[in-house]
Amino acid sequence: MDNFKFHNPVKIIFGKDTIREIGSEIHSYGISKVLILMGSGSVKKNGVYEQVTDSLEKYGIDYVEQWGVTPNPILSHTEESLEIARKEQVQAVLAVGGGSVIDEAKAIAAAYYAPDVWSLFEKTYKATNALPLFTVLTISATASEINSFFVLTNDRENKKWSCGSPHVYPKVSIIDPTVQKYLPINQTINGGVDTLSHIMEFYFMGENEESTLSINEALMRTVIKSVDELVSDPLNYDWRANLAWCSSLALQGITSVSMGGGEFACHRIEHAISALYPSVAHAEGLSVLFPAWIEYVSSLKPHIFERWAKNVWEVDSVAAGIEKMKEKFKYWGAPVSLSELDIEQDEFEKIAENALLIGEVGKIKELNKQDIISILNIAQ
Ligand code: NZQ
Ligand code: ZN
Repeated sequence: MDNFKFHNPVKIIFGKDTIREIGSEIHSYGISKVLILMGSGSVKKNGVYEQVTDSLEKYGIDYVEQWGVTPNPILSHTEESLEIARKEQVQAVLAVGGGSVIDEAKAIAAAYYAPDVWSLFEKTYKATNALPLFTVLTISATASEINSFFVLTNDRENKKWSCGSPHVYPKVSIIDPTVQKYLPINQTINGGVDTLSHIMEFYFMGENEESTLSINEALMRTVIKSVDELVSDPLNYDWRANLAWCSSLALQGITSVSMGGGEFACHRIEHAISALYPSVAHAEGLSVLFPAWIEYVSSLKPHIFERWAKNVWEVDSVAAGIEKMKEKFKYWGAPVSLSELDIEQDEFEKIAENALLIGEVGKIKELNKQDIISILNIAQ
């Protein structure tokens, strides 16, 4: 096992009826004015907005609202939100929503003390400070509520890039799984697929790190079981709560111990796809790419892919594991081919070039442009 440092400072408050604690948590930091960042309005329909604002008012916390964060959040909206945060001189950002809202909130928090937002992503400016960040999570998928990463699309340049800074770890994140019970089923499935993908990005880097590999297998099996159960019984609280917690655990440090920083080729190619086709949800790209990528690279490291096939999918070969995963995705209603996303072969070169803009893609196999096109052909 490699040496490692483990540090995750995020306080998680998890369970039923926990959203009303947000006011006292923010108040305990001596904060009296926040920017509340939200998406397109689901939080008004499911009562989350009311619970949040009631709690803030109870603790005398003033707030400014900014709506309109899109799935696959964009730079231009982030810049607008940052301007509001500065003009209103808020002392913290409160994200109320999913990964997209939290990621934009992180970008605002870090850019508050930076010359501009995109320089953080270009790595020409390194954040040395950030506004304190709090989150109320409404969809479990990205683990952004418990990690220090954020992803934004530069809508002027069609670049979807990620950034990380220890200064943007949320101070407190509230996860009340009951607010996810009326999620459209495809969003629940997206959450399951993204969670599985995060675990796989680390798992396949493994050799013989039994603790991390076993934890990751248990998480993968639990995610699959939870989504299966929720597909037939979306209101089941216990499976909803299990999926939510697996989702947070998948990308917060435990699953990556001694895994060489993760593989992340599929995430890089997916980010290129949603940079060019913003209507494609992050997890839709991943459910199409992962089976194809495994097919393309698994012979380079057969033992770990065979172990995955046996311990996660209960089959004897990698090919059968891929087949079972695709069957499962189809059963859930997740896409397994690029044609289902309306992406045609003549666009593959553009996707490959976009993925390579930030530099090397892939570790088990470093993928060049032709490799990426070959993976996209398998995914067609
Ligand atoms: O706009 P609203 O009203 O919030 O509606 C959202 C949105 O349409 C809806 N939704 C959320 N909670 C709901 C709900 N609808 C009904 N009831 C609820 N309780 O769901 C839709 C999708 O939300 P979004 O936040 O976009 O989903 P997700 O959490 O999957 O976030 C995706 C973004 O995160 C990035 C992705 O690339 C993508 O941009 N990622 C962030 C990561 C990170 N920060 O660590 C890692 C990931 O790999 C990923 O790249
Ligand atoms: Zn992801």
